[in-house]
Amino acid sequence: MRSHPVLGYGLLVLFVFWVTANRASSSSLHCKRYGGDETRPHSVTITEFGAVGDGTTLNTKAFQNAIFYLNSFADKGGAELFVPAGRWLTGSFNLISHLTLWLHKDAVVLGSTDPADWPIIDPLPSYGRGRELPGNRHKSLIFGSNLTDVVITGENGTIDGQGSGWWQRFRNKTLDYTRPHLIELMNSNEVVISNLTLLNSPFWTVHPVYSSHVTIQNLTIRAPPNSPNTDGIDPDSSDHVCIEDCYISTGDDVIAIKSGWDEYGICYGRPSTKITIRRLVGETRSSGIAIGSEMSGGVSDVHAEDLFFYNTNNGIRIKSSPGRGGYVRNVYVSNVSLLNVTTAFRFTGLYGEHPDDHYDPNALPKIERITFKDIRGKSITVAGLMQGIEGDAFGDICLYNVNLQVSASPPWNCSNVKGYSDFVSPQPCELLEQCVFPDHCSECYHLSSDDDDEQRNQKRRKGARLLSW
Ligand SMILES: *[C@@H]1O[C@H](CO)[C@@H](O)[C@H](O)[C@H]1NC(C)=O
Ligand SMILES: *[C@@H]1O[C@H](CO)[C@@H](O)[C@H](O)[C@H]1NC(C)=O
Ligand SMILES: *[C@@H]1O[C@H](CO)[C@@H](O)[C@H](O)[C@H]1NC(C)=O
Ligand SMILES: *[C@@H]1O[C@H](CO)[C@@H](O)[C@H](O)[C@H]1NC(C)=O
Ligand SMILES: *[C@@H]1O[C@H](CO)[C@@H](O)[C@H](O)[C@H]1NC(C)=O
Ligand SMILES: *[C@@H]1O[C@H](CO)[C@@H](O)[C@H](O)[C@H]1NC(C)=O
Ligand SMILES: *[C@@H]1O[C@H](CO)[C@@H](O)[C@H](O)[C@H]1NC(C)=O
Ligand SMILES: *[C@@H]1O[C@H](CO)[C@@H](O)[C@H](O)[C@H]1NC(C)=O
Repeated sequence: MRSHPVLGYGLLVLFVFWVTANRASSSSLHCKRYGGDETRPHSVTITEFGAVGDGTTLNTKAFQNAIFYLNSFADKGGAELFVPAGRWLTGSFNLISHLTLWLHKDAVVLGSTDPADWPIIDPLPSYGRGRELPGNRHKSLIFGSNLTDVVITGENGTIDGQGSGWWQRFRNKTLDYTRPHLIELMNSNEVVISNLTLLNSPFWTVHPVYSSHVTIQNLTIRAPPNSPNTDGIDPDSSDHVCIEDCYISTGDDVIAIKSGWDEYGICYGRPSTKITIRRLVGETRSSGIAIGSEMSGGVSDVHAEDLFFYNTNNGIRIKSSPGRGGYVRNVYVSNVSLLNVTTAFRFTGLYGEHPDDHYDPNALPKIERITFKDIRGKSITVAGLMQGIEGDAFGDICLYNVNLQVSASPPWNCSNVKGYSDFVSPQPCELLEQCVFPDHCSECYHLSSDDDDEQRNQKRRKGARLLSW
């Protein structure tokens, strides 16, 4: 059992820290925005291309023609496609560089319920096949590949994937290919998705993959709690992704950070790194923030703060499996409130689910330097179900100032994990009971070093000063 010779002093410092932290509320931090001009020199309205907003006319051609036309402005500062009030039924369409898709507050873009309006495209190389079925996959409703400077925004206008037919075909096993996302951007740079309501995606809702400098702000994302695989936002093999001020209530993970699947993800080798998440409220039968299970290209430097998850199965979850390879390291999650959550922290080392039989069972993931700090929970069933992999323990797990009201006994269930803790209630499992201070301070308070984010550097310096006792 550990002892606390400095408990009284520690609490005092903690109190000072809270007061100071509250005064310097982190709500002033904002995603750095890359590209994405606020105003484009040219603008057209979708009706100029024959679109009809009656909810029944199929407008795929109008979207495609408008965007084809706007391509001629790409080298002239870009252009805006305005979608006015109305219900605009469409199949998949492709975006172009230097484009702003702008939705009026009463605009609803509706995904066609005919799968034929969602073309078939190649699987992602880092997955080697469709995620749910072998072979190809359906293209997302709004798709972009190899783009730069793209904005999808509005005054809280709506994009509704009308996913229920897809969910039905998933349940009755009549899907032909893997279901489409609502929005997918591949190999793209300087992407902004903001000020929208996204509803009823057939599959994951927002999927930036092989992309950089992606800013996601002020989205409301909803799908029914029982809708299959309707994740909110899935940064996948992408870097410098910043997500803030979102409300997400879906049937699967609120946020899932990924980087490819087993041998395909290892071979493709593109990590997800420098992922920032702040001011997020979410509700799901699955996880608030999940990392994996596809993480074979590696996941690092994830910084999440000011989160609230309720009526949720898992608060923060890391999922992996032998065969995945890759790593998850330098994850820092702080200031989280959990309410009515089954398991606050969950690590799953034997998740399974492989793309095929060619995975290498000796490709073990490396999971290390995971910090959970300033976490409160009410109506929690299990504090932690933390299971690493035998012979491949998840290491440098750090819990600091965690206070959970837990009903299960024992509250923690740990195996093949190693780490530290201080000010954790209920008392953590023995494997996480090494003392944080002073030996393990650097493991625990490592923050990602995003050198071009001066605001965060200032915050880190302040944090370091406050915590150096
Ligand atoms: C996009 O870029 C990738 C990688 O540079 C390239 O392989 C692919 O052909 C490009 N796709 C299109 C549609 O231009
Ligand atoms: C979020 O969107 C709403 C509706 O468009 C807007 O009123 C509000 O100012 C936005 N908030 C932020 C933080 O951008
Ligand atoms: C946007 O609209 C949805 C309903 O369509 C609403 O629930 C949400 O609060 C609105 N978001 C903002 C930021 O105003
Ligand atoms: C499966 O569900 C789809 C969508 O609701 C429906 O069109 C189809 O008839 C169903 N097929 C079977 C075999 O139940
Ligand atoms: C969202 O809308 C608000 C209110 O109109 C605006 O101030 C803000 O700049 C918009 N944010 C983005 C990222 O487009
Ligand atoms: C913690 O997050 C909540 C939102 O969930 C926010 O209101 C509060 O200001 C944050 N506290 C600190 C110390 O940043
Ligand atoms: C707790 O969350 C579950 C879903 O996980 C929900 O069914 C239940 O109604 C919630 N309880 C309360 C008291 O809200
Ligand atoms: C710990 O969790 C494992 C896996 O869910 C379960 O089999 C085991 O019984 C649990 N142990 C305790 C003491 O609850």
